Amino acid sequence: MSDLHQHDTFQRVDKVQLARRFGAAARHYDAHARFQQEVGLALLARMSESSVALDKHQSPALTPPAAGLDLGCGTGFFLPHLASQCQQLHGLDLAPGMLQQAARRGSGALLLCGDAEALPFADQSLDWIFSSLALQWCERPAQAFAEIHRVLKPGGRLLFSTLLSDSLWQLREAWRTVDERSHVNRFLSLSQLQHALTLGGFCAPELQSLTWSLAYPSLSGLLRDLKGIGASQVNDERQAGLGNRQRLLRLGEAYEQFRQPDGMLSASYQVCLGQLTRN
Ligand SMILES: C[S@@+](CC[C@H](N)C(=O)[O-])C[C@H]1O[C@@H](n2cnc3c(N)ncnc32)[C@H](O)[C@@H]1O
Repeated sequence: MSDLHQHDTFQRVDKVQLARRFGAAARHYDAHARFQQEVGLALLARMSESSVALDKHQSPALTPPAAGLDLGCGTGFFLPHLASQCQQLHGLDLAPGMLQQAARRGSGALLLCGDAEALPFADQSLDWIFSSLALQWCERPAQAFAEIHRVLKPGGRLLFSTLLSDSLWQLREAWRTVDERSHVNRFLSLSQLQHALTLGGFCAPELQSLTWSLAYPSLSGLLRDLKGIGASQVNDERQAGLGNRQRLLRLGEAYEQFRQPDGMLSASYQVCLGQLTRN
């Protein structure tokens, strides 16, 4: 889909339902979000490295930058970490239920309910945007990047992580032996993501694709985590659910081919980490 345009829809998302699902998961999200925490912390480490690099080249008066945003902040796990990076921190999420959890962190961030595809910020008003594992839920990725580009100041930074098309390929393959329906979310390929960023206004995006391997003693652990964070399927119009016990048993059998010599089942995510500067 390299011919994706700025206003093109990559996936149809019922945002009311998506917000409801993430909101319903909010209270137990953190207990199932080991992977999300690891990815966000890796992104934060990059952010600290780049601030150190910035410090070396810029006058101390310019750091820490004044206004930052955690876009798709979820339960706000990263807000206390981000608070030290700016004077005015915002956390934005589509799901009010997530924001309620985020409010309990006491990070001092200003919390806003909103959509990445229509950001409630003035043009060129933010110094940086951090966004971890949220942008893959957008309907029109290029539109989200255009919004990010619009609200960043010239020289402002975007640090984000998102999921790419090879994520959860084992689960997709196991489902294929059960039925023809789509049970796993679709994600952009690296080249589609690159294209969406370019359409959004970012030149020469610096992107890194990494494979994140998780290990579960049983398939139910993986399914529990997916459900526990509210990330059940959003982009199949037919909304194929898990189905009955018999189908789940067949799925479990099919997944056995991914059992490793150490006895654990593997599940992998293809994660993109991106660091970009707005011109
Ligand atoms: C997997 S969670 C990640 C949360 C947090 N960044 C983390 O890493 O723990 C995805 C979050 O993105 C939010 N989200 C999804 N689509 C969004 C959109 N269009 N605009 C803003 N937030 C969105 C969801 O409500 C959810 O809280």
